[in-house]
Amino acid sequence: MAPPLRILHITDPHLHGQRDARMRGVNTDDTLVATLAHALGGKLRPDLVLATGDLVQDETRAGYERFHELLGDLGLPVYCLPGNHDDPGLMRELLSAAPFRFCGVAEHGAWSLIMLNSFTRGDDGGLLAPEDLELLDRTLASGGAAHCLVALHHQPVPMGSLWLDSVPLRNADEFLAICDRHSRLRGIVWGHVHQASDRERRGVRLLSTPSTCAQFRPASDQFALDTRPPGYRWLDLHADGSIDTTVVWVE
Ligand SMILES: [Fe+2]
Repeated sequence: MAPPLRILHITDPHLHGQRDARMRGVNTDDTLVATLAHALGGKLRPDLVLATGDLVQDETRAGYERFHELLGDLGLPVYCLPGNHDDPGLMRELLSAAPFRFCGVAEHGAWSLIMLNSFTRGDDGGLLAPEDLELLDRTLASGGAAHCLVALHHQPVPMGSLWLDSVPLRNADEFLAICDRHSRLRGIVWGHVHQASDRERRGVRLLSTPSTCAQFRPASDQFALDTRPPGYRWLDLHADGSIDTTVVWVE
């Protein structure tokens, strides 16, 4: 069998313009550096990196330049999409040229990766614009590849955590209705919730990935930090449409 498409999924690094800045006590620069060293220092080699938003916490150019510096020389494509804390304009400006890519569709053998922008100004929740919903519908209907994986920042299904479920993908109903119309969708991955989850809905794998910095306590109705360390996810996308995945915690 052909080797799988192997994706290193990182999310919510929350970098700052100042490298020594902390978020809730965590130096997010240090934890991203440690996460990348952990993921790329082992024997598994990804084919690409997928970063699903909240790349920069303080919307600074220097924050995106630092992300570029840390990921630009890996010799790998780095696919990026924005989260609620990002500045999509700055991000598009600084993270569009190869090896980076800002949103859109990428074809890799048997798989299409559909990367959506759910940023909406003034809201920590997310919203997919009509053109993104159209892109999703069109690609799921007629993309070249046999199987599709969708990536976005905000959760399209409840996490069972009152405060997080108040800032979800606001038009999840529309999003899921499109997903339900097509048979080539195999998985949906997101960030934003700073915790790992792995479920299935109508034959589609639903995966959230922990942050490269601090985690949120699952099933907590109020905001609460978890004691888990930084984390990341491996995704192996097989040519037969199956997905093997593991979350790795950076102890
Ligand atoms: Fe977020």
